[in-house]
Amino acid sequence: MADTATPNVIRRADYAPPAFLIDTVALEFDLIPERTVVRNTMRVCRNPDASHAANFELMGEQLEFVSATIDGAPFAQAHAHEHGLTLDNVPDNFELTLTSICNPAENTTLSGLYVSGGNFFTQCEAEGFRRITYFLDRPDVMATFTVTLRASKADYPVLLSNGNLLEEGDLPDGRHFARWEDPFRKPSYLFALVAGKLVALEERVKSGSGKEKLLQVWVEPHDLDKTRHAMDSLINSIRWDESRFGLELDLDRFMIVAVSDFNMGAMENKGLNIFNTKYVLANPETATDTDFANIEAVVGHEYFHNWTGNRVTCRDWFQLSLKEGLTVFRDQEFSADMAGGATDEAARATKRIEDVRVLRQMQFAEDAGPMAHPVRPESYVEINNFYTMTVYEKGSEVVRMYQTLFGRDGFRKGMDLYFKRHDGQAVTCDDFRHALADANGRDLAQFERWYSQAGTPRVSVRTQYDAAQQRYSVTLTQGYGDTAPAARETQKGPLLIPFAIGLIGKDGHDLPLQLEGETRASEATTRVLEFTQTEQTFTFVNVAQEPLPSLLRNFSAPVIVEYDYSADQLAFLLAHDSDPFNRWEAGQRLATRELLTLAGRAATGVPLQLDDSVVAAFARVLTDETLSPAFRELALMLPSEAYLAEQMAESNPAAVHAARQFVRKRLANALRKDWLAVYEKHRTPGAYEATPEASGHRALKNLALSYLAELDDPAEAVRLASAQYDAANNMTDRSAALSALLNASAANGGSVEAHQALDDFYRRFEKEPLVIDKWFALQATQRGSAQRPVIEIVRKLMAHPAFNLKNPNRARSLIFSFCAANPAQFHAEDGSGYAFWAEQVIALDAINPQVAARLARSLELWRRFTPTLRDGMRAALEKVASQVKSRDVREIVEKALA
Ligand code: TRP
Ligand code: ZN
Repeated sequence: MADTATPNVIRRADYAPPAFLIDTVALEFDLIPERTVVRNTMRVCRNPDASHAANFELMGEQLEFVSATIDGAPFAQAHAHEHGLTLDNVPDNFELTLTSICNPAENTTLSGLYVSGGNFFTQCEAEGFRRITYFLDRPDVMATFTVTLRASKADYPVLLSNGNLLEEGDLPDGRHFARWEDPFRKPSYLFALVAGKLVALEERVKSGSGKEKLLQVWVEPHDLDKTRHAMDSLINSIRWDESRFGLELDLDRFMIVAVSDFNMGAMENKGLNIFNTKYVLANPETATDTDFANIEAVVGHEYFHNWTGNRVTCRDWFQLSLKEGLTVFRDQEFSADMAGGATDEAARATKRIEDVRVLRQMQFAEDAGPMAHPVRPESYVEINNFYTMTVYEKGSEVVRMYQTLFGRDGFRKGMDLYFKRHDGQAVTCDDFRHALADANGRDLAQFERWYSQAGTPRVSVRTQYDAAQQRYSVTLTQGYGDTAPAARETQKGPLLIPFAIGLIGKDGHDLPLQLEGETRASEATTRVLEFTQTEQTFTFVNVAQEPLPSLLRNFSAPVIVEYDYSADQLAFLLAHDSDPFNRWEAGQRLATRELLTLAGRAATGVPLQLDDSVVAAFARVLTDETLSPAFRELALMLPSEAYLAEQMAESNPAAVHAARQFVRKRLANALRKDWLAVYEKHRTPGAYEATPEASGHRALKNLALSYLAELDDPAEAVRLASAQYDAANNMTDRSAALSALLNASAANGGSVEAHQALDDFYRRFEKEPLVIDKWFALQATQRGSAQRPVIEIVRKLMAHPAFNLKNPNRARSLIFSFCAANPAQFHAEDGSGYAFWAEQVIALDAINPQVAARLARSLELWRRFTPTLRDGMRAALEKVASQVKSRDVREIVEKALA
């Protein structure tokens, strides 16, 4: 489309190998906040596999060029420019030393070298290394790095970089130095350094082959009491990668460092992972069960990158999902194994449900809008905009499908072959697919379409039972329906869809499965059908009674299934399906259908009513003690407002909110006694435990509290919540109580209890930034009312002394929470939310383009809303488009408006 006209589009088709290679890099840093001098000595040679170039073009941004020498002699033909440095007519093989200066103190982008809380940190992925020194800053240039750090010993007592510490010592004038060497070749995006006043929790563990490893979690001194869980997660990750994939830690030392100013979750720099504090720091008083689980997942994720990302890396950034999709899949499997081992299917399903919920809510929405792109994108303007739900979460589903097709053992064989072939290389998604195909003796040519086609596939299902012949046929049809133009362009043909299915008999048990042509039924009552054509019929034989199909068990492919279940059938599946994922799914379908009908009524002002059968289905789950509390909590939680709004022909957040609130109130009032009983029964007295069981009890109990807060008379809920708030010995219970208090009183403009608890919460945790983030977020996502719209509260909080736009966590806690997690308030008819959004995108654009671009995305689905909202959003987008400067935000708003 507009792509061809825009000059700054980078295309996958244009990939060319680098004209030069860099073998070794020696970096010397004189760390001074306003003026850091970097000396960079590289061993450079021409790339035999590339066409000849006379000049050597290095990337560089925001650098002050000082000097260049080649083989020790000053080199005069060096020209610094806005995008880097050009060296004219260089030899074939030479040693190049470049000196440059950067300003970490003024670097608010948090990309490159920057100062946070008085300490130095780096963030180089994807293209931040060029903000530190001139380089071939692309992932297919892999070098070995030696790093010397020099800094004031008093101000920066700890000096860290990748790999092993070779040497450290004192220098004149109160300075000291440390020298690090990373024995493994790596691309520049994996470089890291940290310098400052930090302390570490340390452990020594033996890896599988018996080698001793030093593990460290580095934090600011006052946070040392919040590092145990991250360390345990790291140890568990190391063990898990050994046992599940035979992959051992390859360095003698592995470090995690926490920093409070960070653009994303964490970064897998070789041997020196740098983390957002949010994904490291936890103790029961400050972190919720969700925080604990997220820390385990992110620590795992970054650790697993050591093999999937670092030892084998990406040839170019279009291959990002090669490392991210695969590593998300690995962290999801790790968390599932930690929760339920290999065999506790119900416990594993909880994790699966949570992951699928994120995928459907976020990735399906992305795929339906102007940023839709394949797992392996074809083009981008700013690569930072492509760290997306599609690359990560859909990418993970694509990897999961290999495992679904080949089984755990077949998948493992594929992984083994992948490392055997590609260790130490920068490769492509095709290389990964070929390894999986070859190890399993399969041709996976058709499977490539999962990497090249955007949009969410739809599978419609028709079934027919022939009682006389005892045959049951399942006809599957695949297509994309009416998808976004950005996705449609990429859609070329049918996909290989692993479609897991089971057939359920009248007694609720699975029936044996025998496909036409097979001699007998299989033992397993779930079958993975390989669905490869646009339309395909699978016929089961010897089916003694008309079954109810359980479709896409465990969500075996990232698709939308269309099948005309009756409400009774869904209630039956919710009660009986042997596949726990599909039990949950049945409840969600039932609720979604009901909620969408109600939202339609609410939009046209028709009075709302809810069928008793829906209440009954929920009551059964609520009181079914054979189900785990964690599962019941997931099953009883209604689909989110954002997800529901997206399902409407015209998104109407106010109508969705009204419908969802109506159902919540109805369920609260109708099942009041049951909610109270569940609330009492699932208290977790005694010391806090972070186990999945204990957190399941808390989740169900706190869900009950949130429903009780919807009662027409909330007095009882307010009493329970206040008592829970005061007695809580953990953040899960305390924040749930606070949230219940805020919402119970929303309609009356807030209760005394709510205000008191809010004040208490602030004072109690004033010195804990991550908890103050929760304090902002709880207020930004609260219900609000006509008398007191949340935008007013948010604007007031923007002026709070603890608010700071430069800190991404804080900006997210207030601004993103409101703009992306409080749809009914954000999409106010008067456009007040959009005006606020535009102001904040513009303000952030000048500080931190990566964060600004994320916020900019919260309006990208504007075309799908009701006309009034649509107009308001377009005006806001146009305003932003006319004012922003960064490539990051421009790409988002221009695609949205195109
Ligand atoms: N590679 C990181 C991950 O594990 C994500 C990442 C990419 C990142 N760019 C970043 C993190 C910039 C922080 C800042 O998924
Ligand atoms: Zn990652």
